Amino acid sequence: MESRYDDRGRTVGVGNDVMSRSVAIAKVDDIAVGNGKAFEVGEKRIAVFNVEESFYAIDDACPHAGASLAEGYLKDGNVGCPWHYAEFDLTTGDHHHAPATCGVSVYPVVVEGNQIKVTIA
Ligand code: FES
Repeated sequence: MESRYDDRGRTVGVGNDVMSRSVAIAKVDDIAVGNGKAFEVGEKRIAVFNVEESFYAIDDACPHAGASLAEGYLKDGNVGCPWHYAEFDLTTGDHHHAPATCGVSVYPVVVEGNQIKVTIA
């Protein structure tokens, strides 16, 4: 199945069955090492990060004011919000400091061949 991209280069409408638990969200080559990218999966917007070729998926919207965490900076297993610098653990979703007052959801990721799959609850 071929990915489609929006005007910011983000994959949208991958065409997966959003009712299935494991969603093929992107190809490994879609996300460069040290970067993140946001994907629409049904009603959710998921940020997927490539940290030294290990992949992590969390909610894309920062709970403080809605910035795209996919556009944040990666540092020591965390992503920093690009707007006001709250940081979130990529493994647990926990927030580390204000201005965010809560964490984000995390989603299990598996890589099968060149395909990144995210499990959506
Ligand atoms: S929008 Fe993320 S810290 Fe403010």
